[in-house]
Amino acid sequence: MSAAACIPPSPVDLAASAEADAVWIAVCTLANIPALGARRVRRPDGVDIALFRATSDRIYALLDRCPHKGGPLSQGIVFGESVACPLHNWTIRLVDGRAQAPDEGCTPAFAVKVEGDQVYLRRDQLLAPIVPMTAASCDVTAYTSVS
Ligand code: FES
Repeated sequence: MSAAACIPPSPVDLAASAEADAVWIAVCTLANIPALGARRVRRPDGVDIALFRATSDRIYALLDRCPHKGGPLSQGIVFGESVACPLHNWTIRLVDGRAQAPDEGCTPAFAVKVEGDQVYLRRDQLLAPIVPMTAASCDVTAYTSVS
């Protein structure tokens, strides 16, 4: 079963936000993200971001691609502050997208802001092209959650 998608920002919304110089884009409400579950947010380039609701009730955002072979992390099992990939069961940390040892690699993590019941992603991170992660880039956490 695939994770349902949040209401994605439309190209019109993104363009309007650019005019307003907005940094954060509202993508869904907390109620849209099930406990220990995930929702997808469509990026303009078609590579989804997965929003996860962890045991702590904190919200995290990762590219919806496992660092192993690209499995859809949004369809994995969320436990604690991690998600188990549905394809080969690698454990990925939600805070930074890193695979748990002995597995190696990471998937990009994105900043999340939660205000009241509203969940926001950064506009620039939604629009930026995805850069393939390398072992070296896993050591640099470019984005941090502010939820
Ligand atoms: S694709 Fe995720 S563990 Fe293999």
